[in-house]
Amino acid sequence: MSEPVNVSIIYYSATGNVHALALAAAEGAEKAGAEVRLRKVAETATEEVVNSRPEWAQHVRDTADVAEVSHADLEWADVVLFGTPTRFGNPVSQIRAFVETTGPLWFTGKLAGKVYSAFVASNTAHGGQESTILAMANTFYHWGGIIVPPGYTDPVQFQTGNPYGTSHTAGGGATPSDLTLQAARHQARRAVETAAALKAGRAA
Ligand SMILES: Cc1cc2nc3c(=O)[nH]c(=O)nc-3n(C[C@H](O)[C@H](O)[C@H](O)COP(=O)(O)O)c2cc1C
Repeated sequence: MSEPVNVSIIYYSATGNVHALALAAAEGAEKAGAEVRLRKVAETATEEVVNSRPEWAQHVRDTADVAEVSHADLEWADVVLFGTPTRFGNPVSQIRAFVETTGPLWFTGKLAGKVYSAFVASNTAHGGQESTILAMANTFYHWGGIIVPPGYTDPVQFQTGNPYGTSHTAGGGATPSDLTLQAARHQARRAVETAAALKAGRAA
């Protein structure tokens, strides 16, 4: 029997939307037979700033039991899925802060050859979802990653319409719809299937 695919889902979420996408991705990856680690990146905002928005403070409390990401989670993974809110068209600084600690792994080739994919939430549909995912991809290129986007590889993609990665529009307090969660599951499944084929091929 072949070894299972290891998936690290690394995310940041202030108010819960990206967290919901991350949970759906975890479900999709597990259903595809993968071992999954769900990991949040460290908060860098001060307590005062977090507490200035009750929904942010609440989400921090709600996810207190989610482990913080470490380099070991990157090393262990065959697939790394990143989830980030959009901040002025880019990934959040909390994700960047983590990424910028990975020099030693990158330098020793430990980030290369893995499957990478990203998903996002923003307040508006044209508020930078694609640019945020593409900005994450800049890092994947530097790492020598194998970028596996969802494309239009499942009927759900024609309904949700973002081939770059699962995207949720959170404006007005909207939480991810069933369709968007389905897209996140599909994105994770496709990444796992690709990594499984790679893993089997490399072991042969
Ligand atoms: C500083 C800042 C910048 C933001 N920039 C954008 C933006 O460029 N486009 C957009 O649609 N939403 C923007 N937003 C809204 C967030 O993307 C949105 O609240 C987030 O995706 C919700 O995800 P979460 O619930 O997981 O935190 C911004 C929010 C903040 C606080």
